[in-house]
Amino acid sequence: MLVSGAGTNLQALLDATRDPAYGVEVVAVGADRDSIEGLARAERAGIPTFVHRVRDFPSREDWDRELTASCRSHRPDLVISAGFMKLAGESFLAEFGGRYLNTHPALLPAFPGMTGPADALDYGVKVTGATLFVVDAGVDTGPIVAQRAVPVEDDDTVELLHERIKVVERAMLVDCVGRMAREGFTITDRKVRFGQ
Ligand code: GRF
Repeated sequence: MLVSGAGTNLQALLDATRDPAYGVEVVAVGADRDSIEGLARAERAGIPTFVHRVRDFPSREDWDRELTASCRSHRPDLVISAGFMKLAGESFLAEFGGRYLNTHPALLPAFPGMTGPADALDYGVKVTGATLFVVDAGVDTGPIVAQRAVPVEDDDTVELLHERIKVVERAMLVDCVGRMAREGFTITDRKVRFGQ
């Protein structure tokens, strides 16, 4: 799992994995920065961690190759970006394309990018939400696994709205990753379906 911040999505998955029937093991947690709560959560759970900061590499491609190698070394079936604020590059997608998931705090294709909740609020939509998708080479453009809606309230702030989105986002992530692990999934013409 890849994180850049608070890691509440990671925590939700870690909590779910305590039940063996859930069928998922988090094999490692990677980050692009030190001293974040996401890494502390992994360490408390006894899960191996690694950190690769873009600025420590001569180029973005070098960083991407190192991230890819670290992920590969843990032999994951899926890689999940949850609040990981970096775009994966060519090496990473060559290795993990089709099994690299990202969760986004808006109903894609509306409001892609780093400021989904603020953009939804500014636009004045009445419903926004969260999207789990399979990452492709675009920005938040990949095949959609699941979406959950969240009503926008008249007196919402970005923080209040994002926190309410995160509640459904975590539940969606736990549900879907469990199903993908237990049932498998297919992607045909952008349609993601659970099962073989
Ligand atoms: C999530 O809403 C994610 O979609 C967004 O940042 C938030 C990360 O939350 N990109 P957390 O670190 O899992 O608490």
